[in-house]
This record gives sequence, structure tokens and C-alpha cells, in this order.
Amino acid sequence: MARTGSEHDARVSVSAARKIALSAPWIDERDEELVLEVLRSGQLSLGPVGPRFEGLLAEAVGAPYCAAVSSGTAGLHLCMRLAGVGPGDEVITSPYSFVASANCAIYEGATPVFADIDPSTLNLDPAAVEAAITPKTKAVVAVDIFGYPCELDELLAICDRHGLALVEDACEALGALYKGRPIGSHGHPAVWAFYPNKQVTTGEGGAVTTGSAQEHDLLVSLRNQGRLETSSWLQHGRLGFNYRLDDISAALGVGQLERLDRILESRGEVAERYAQLLAGVDLETPLANDADHVRSWFVYVVKLPAGVDRDAVITRLGGDGIACAPYLPSIHLQSYMRERFGFSEGLCPVSEDASARTMALPFHARLAHDDQRRVVEALRIALEAA
Ligand SMILES: Cc1ncc(COP(=O)(O)O)c(C=O)c1O
Repeated sequence: MARTGSEHDARVSVSAARKIALSAPWIDERDEELVLEVLRSGQLSLGPVGPRFEGLLAEAVGAPYCAAVSSGTAGLHLCMRLAGVGPGDEVITSPYSFVASANCAIYEGATPVFADIDPSTLNLDPAAVEAAITPKTKAVVAVDIFGYPCELDELLAICDRHGLALVEDACEALGALYKGRPIGSHGHPAVWAFYPNKQVTTGEGGAVTTGSAQEHDLLVSLRNQGRLETSSWLQHGRLGFNYRLDDISAALGVGQLERLDRILESRGEVAERYAQLLAGVDLETPLANDADHVRSWFVYVVKLPAGVDRDAVITRLGGDGIACAPYLPSIHLQSYMRERFGFSEGLCPVSEDASARTMALPFHARLAHDDQRRVVEALRIALEAA
């Protein structure tokens, strides 16, 4: 079919429009210098920069101990070891998260048990956690989804009452506060992740912070092939892993953590601008902070009204050069979870409803105001058409 001139022009201008990425790391000259210093030093792993990075992170989250690891997933896996999770055990976690929060239990032969979430916070509903406890339950992995702190006091009380370990998947929450204190400062192990879409990046990388010297010693050994503090390079006191973070990655992390406040502030400003631009658009914006919960902005996720074809909206924005994503699918409905454990629709209705309606907009510390305007305008048009 022949196109009119204006249709053709519109297509050309859309394809010529600059693409707006879903996320982007913020790397500056200081980061580059620090990485180069390590490269020039010749000591690319097990050097002095790893501990420097750990010190800065421990200070930022108010934890006495920090062990850097190769990814957030590795950190979660090691926390299963700390909790003594093994074959036959059950680990309760959130279905509305990244798969690693549940996979870590499977790595140790345990079964993930999904408790439903609270529709407003999108974090684990403590009542659902308590209802999911059985004699086989060993641990709870609570997630601070999209940087919004989970209900720590209630979850800690439940774990205390039932003798369970609490592991906090804080991979998305660096800088968040619960009841005025940083996430990570409450004593139990908290896991951090530094993939390039995170607030702070090391390329790939992660960390576990804890208030326990004993847990820290075990983490340090487990990440380093089970070596003991006293043993030489080829002496291994236990079965371990190579989950070390190299010094090149750690150097990038040092640069990032040195300006953590600026990074968090910029992300907060971008979120605030979205909130203003989206006023009057028919969708739910992210839950606001309250006295007990201060979010660290990881992604900007909106919830569309029921009945709107969310995937069509994402496709249409993609056609306009704007990358959005269907954050987050419910973990229990991933194909390998269905096949392995027989999970199906209806297990966690609140999570499933959120999964069908939520989407992440482009979001990073240096997203330009004009780009945000373009995203919101395109979203408005896509919603009208959906
Ligand atoms: C909630 C959550 N848990 C765990 C992870 C895993 O982190 P990594 O990708 O560093 O293994 C991520 C990272 O995307 C995450 O968002």
C-alpha cells in the first residue's frame, strides 16, 4: 500500500530519533583512573583494592563486615551455606523478584517456597511468609524489590519465633533506609549486586555484608575455594567456590562508592521528574516513601490499569526507540520452575497480577529531562491506543 508523504516522514523521524536505553552506568574519569591504576599495578586479583572496596561498602550500609563476591547470585548462594540450607529443606522467598533469589535455594538441593507479596510494596507479605512455614523451612530470603525496603521487623520476628535464618536480598537497594537505618545495618546477612544497571556498578560483582565475624570468616573462605585463613594457596579446609571479585572490578566500585551520594541524589531527581511528568496519566507510579521506608531508586516501575495490553505498550514504545521492560515476571511461572516443582497460575495471585501489569521505564542517573518527556509522551499515546 502506498504511503502518504506525512506517514513516511513520521516513520523517518521516529527511526532517526535517538534511542533511549533502559539503563546506563555512570562512569567518570576517576573510575577510569582507578581501573587503570590496577591494570598498571599488575596485581589484578587478591590485591589491596578489594578490601578498600569492602571498607567503603561496609561504611555506606553501616555493617561491620563486608565480603565482596563475583555477583549478587554468588552472594545469595553463599548465604544459603551460612544458613545451613541443604537437600530436603525449604526456603521461603518472593515470587516477584529476579530469579536468583529463588535459585540460590535450588543450588543447595532445597525447594523454593513462594509466599505472596503485598500489592502496594510488592515485597513479601509477612503474614503469607508465616503461613508458608513448615517443619522443613530453614530460611527466608526477603527481597527489597526495586529498592523499597521489605518489612524487616515483622520478618525478623517471624524468623526468630520459628528459628529460621533471614537473608536479605538487597541487590536492588543500596542506599535504602528502614526505620531510619540503612538496609544492611540490621545484623543479618544482606546481599548486594553491582551489574551495570544497579545504583553502583563493578561490571559484574556483588557483596555480602553481615554483623557476624563468624559468618564473615566463613564467607571469605567459601568465596576463595574453601581456603582457611591459615592455609597456603593449595590447602583447602572445606568445599568452596571461586566467587572472588577481581581488583579491576573492585577499583570501579571504589570510584562509584566515592560518589555514592551524588549517584543516589541524581537517581532521586530523575524519579521525581517522572512523578511530575506522569501526573494525570492513567497508571500507578511507584509507592512513595513513608516514615519507615526510604527507597533507593533502582528502576522506575509503573503499574498499568487492569485490562491494558502491557506487552503491546512496551512493543509500541520499542518502535519509538524507547526501551522498556516487563518487570518482573513471577518466578514460580518460569518454565523451569513449572517443570521442576509443578508450580502454576494461582499460587501467588498478587504477584501474578503485578507481573501482568508492571513495566520498567528507562531509568538511570543521567537520564535527560527531554528524554523523560519523550518517554512519557510516547507512553501516553501508547496507553490511549492500547
Ligand atoms: C533482586 C535481585 N537479586 C539478585 C540479583 C542477582 O545479581 P547478579 O546479577 O549480580 O548475580 C539481582 C540482579 O539483577 C537482583 O535484582
